[in-house]
Amino acid sequence: MTPHRNSKLTRPRIAVRTAPFQESVIREMTRLGDETGAVNLSQGLPDFDPPPEVLEAAVAAIRSGHNQYTFPFGTLAFREAIAAKSARYNHIPANPETDVSVTCGVSEAMMATILALTDPGDEVIIVEPWYESYVPDCQMAGVRPRFVLLSEPDYAFDPDDLRKAFNDRTRLILVNTPHNPTGRVFSRADLAAIGTLCQEFDVIAVTDEIYEHILYDGHEHVSIASLDGMHERAVTISGLGKTYAVTGWRVGWAIAAPQLTNVIRKVHDYLTICAPAPFQVAGIAALGLPDSYYAEMRAQYAARRTILLDALDAAGMPYCKPEGAYYVMADFRHLEWEQRAFSRPGWTLDRAFAEYTARELGVAVVPGSSFYAGDYQGASRVRLNFAKQESTLGEAARRLQRLARL
Ligand SMILES: Cc1ncc(COP(=O)(O)O)c(C=O)c1O
Repeated sequence: MTPHRNSKLTRPRIAVRTAPFQESVIREMTRLGDETGAVNLSQGLPDFDPPPEVLEAAVAAIRSGHNQYTFPFGTLAFREAIAAKSARYNHIPANPETDVSVTCGVSEAMMATILALTDPGDEVIIVEPWYESYVPDCQMAGVRPRFVLLSEPDYAFDPDDLRKAFNDRTRLILVNTPHNPTGRVFSRADLAAIGTLCQEFDVIAVTDEIYEHILYDGHEHVSIASLDGMHERAVTISGLGKTYAVTGWRVGWAIAAPQLTNVIRKVHDYLTICAPAPFQVAGIAALGLPDSYYAEMRAQYAARRTILLDALDAAGMPYCKPEGAYYVMADFRHLEWEQRAFSRPGWTLDRAFAEYTARELGVAVVPGSSFYAGDYQGASRVRLNFAKQESTLGEAARRLQRLARL
């Protein structure tokens, strides 16, 4: 019998696991910004250059032959630099041989960790609102996300809600501090409460600390792995992207006890083989920058935050002042705007407002509800980021002034 030939892919078979999630709203908003010529305050990428000595180190690395695969979990020299920084800044002792895995950004470290430490049907606790990749990561791994809400207006969690989220199917809790999208920096007491439950329920804390150096008003960054009883039960994830303004370099890492690291490394190897070789070399230069670099970077971010918060004050949009990272969730429910003209069937109000700010005011923002599981939460807020030059933020502030006149 001749096999049935069908050269036309009329009804492609799509994996069921991809059905629950859509394209990233943040990238969609960035596209809308490009299309409308808006100032892009949606995607969290800097529009300024990385430190020159780090750029030079990358160029020199490419010219001097660092252009092939490295060891899957990173060069020893880079892992040593990460371990030294981890001991110094995070108070987490780490052996570069057994505890450190270099990955393609924090995103891959997170995916590799979830795949390495869960089985389909397990539960993973996610603090809500969350950074957009966590839920699709869980869905791709076949695990069930369970949410713990940070309540508006100050984005604190209720200890009882936190306890209720843990059960005997829970394998991981994902914690992001400083937090995207709210700017919260979790206190030592917040993290200790999470740590106590992790120990009681035999759960591992996976922390996304990508904004660990971006802090304001004396807030301190605490790594949960540095707390009593948490060293063996935490995976500490961070990366170069935000601290050194190199989000396109795709370099991150995960620090964990050897029995966890072994599995994370195995998954990582089959996902991506290794992180970009020349940027691992440049990463050593980045991690070697003096303390003055971090002090200056914080001062610059504080000045950028002031420009944006002043603009929100002038526009009449309340917000919770960010303690870290470079985002703010701003409330637009007090404004009158051309709701009817920008609403579409099936859109939440914040989606329509984001369309309005991009098309009408020329400022691209992210709808607040895209950081929540349900549409109604966050639906009166939008997220704006201030990882931009002061001139860019000044222009955004000028455009947002129109809201004040509504
Ligand atoms: C909380 C958080 N985690 C991870 C990422 C992505 O990290 P990377 O670019 O290193 O993959 C971002 C980017 O905005 C983020 O905000």
